[in-house]
Amino acid sequence: MDQVLEKIYAIKKYELDDYAKHLMIGGGTRGGPVLKRGKGCWVEDIDGKKYIDCTSQSWALYLGYANDEINNIVHEHSQNLTHVHQGFDTLPRFAFAKKLAQIAPASFNRVSFTVGGGPAVESAMKLAVKNREGAGEFICLYDSYHGATLGTMGASWISTMGSGKFIGGSRFNRIIRQFIRVPNPYCYRCPLGLEPEGCEMMCLKVLRLTIEKGINGPTAAIILEPLQASGGQIIFPKEYLQGVRKLCDEFGIILVYDEIQTYARIGTFFANEYYGVEPDIIALGKGLGAGFPIGANIIRDGLKGYEPDSEELHTFANNSVSQVAGLKLIDILENGVLENCRNMGNYLGKELKDMQKTFPQIGDVRQAGLHIGLELVIDPATKAPATGLLAAVRKAGFENGIIFGVGGMAKNVLKIKPPLIITKQDADSVLESFRKSFMTALKNI
Ligand SMILES: Cc1ncc(COP(=O)(O)O)c(C=O)c1O
Repeated sequence: MDQVLEKIYAIKKYELDDYAKHLMIGGGTRGGPVLKRGKGCWVEDIDGKKYIDCTSQSWALYLGYANDEINNIVHEHSQNLTHVHQGFDTLPRFAFAKKLAQIAPASFNRVSFTVGGGPAVESAMKLAVKNREGAGEFICLYDSYHGATLGTMGASWISTMGSGKFIGGSRFNRIIRQFIRVPNPYCYRCPLGLEPEGCEMMCLKVLRLTIEKGINGPTAAIILEPLQASGGQIIFPKEYLQGVRKLCDEFGIILVYDEIQTYARIGTFFANEYYGVEPDIIALGKGLGAGFPIGANIIRDGLKGYEPDSEELHTFANNSVSQVAGLKLIDILENGVLENCRNMGNYLGKELKDMQKTFPQIGDVRQAGLHIGLELVIDPATKAPATGLLAAVRKAGFENGIIFGVGGMAKNVLKIKPPLIITKQDADSVLESFRKSFMTALKNI
């Protein structure tokens, strides 16, 4: 073993507090295990305890930990190239762009690479402005999350709880870009207080009014996650996206799908296959590089793309290692894993829905592929958010060897988003550990 690695691996648990003094961590829900090694859906901590990971580490490890095929291609390719300046062409960049264009909707044929999710959304914003002369306003949805860069943070302000902590503005309000927010179609808990039956898609009416009367100037783009992830795993009604598309066409607004969490995880490569509604720009990140950092935008034919005059220039935007990993991932997804994602997602979704009979505190089960959220409530009739219960389930989960994710504005949406390679046996493990953790949590709260 390399001597540097030997030294790293030799760090003892009792020394960690000393090391921690040198770290500034700006996000995440800490307090879990210190991770040492993983394989597939399982990860081990420094005490040797094993956990099945339903977070896929920021939902990004689509093939799980230490995937042999990804590791092999990365090892093989990195003997030749790793980081390359954007100004130089490489074979992996050509190949990855072409492959993404092949799997994207037919009229999406040009790709721009960047360094991660937030930068991909910012890049979509630049492209929207390029294509909508004179327009500079952006609309996003209540509870959206689009990143923590200065350009995107304003859109994520509510979902990061910044609004709760800093009433009147986040600490960075002075320098962040402001977004116009409109109600999200969160039908289980409609922000307009309506019931889905007979609501007449009031959220779409508010969107229209906002475009017409609520903004000083033309809107450049509507940016939305087609399935709102951090906001609470909210699957939208098809008619909502159809309505947004119509409004964008009527007013000449660019529609951006932030597919940073939905790409492949919902069981189809892109959300247009799931909903039947196409955007104008697709932003990608997270799982795109099978755990290696990369972001991208794919744009509809007819839109203006970038000129090579530093409009979109990043040192690490041509990372050939991430590109080959991303290509290999698509190959693996096309050869059974995407199908597995649909099958295992449907299986978990059905079993979890069945559990609602035993645990009425599971107010809603929202599942699309392996993008699964359970909204926990104190009582299904009042729908009061069961924030404490969720924290207790998560804590019991750590004890029972399972890592759950947390989402939703009241932190009452339990996220189950394991790697897309999960087997039936591991899915059964998730269900069993969930049941056990839920029962422990009910006793403890
Ligand atoms: C939907 C969505 N958009 C954008 C981002 C930001 O991506 P990144 O953290 O890579 O900047 C995230 C990250 O959680 C996300 O979930």
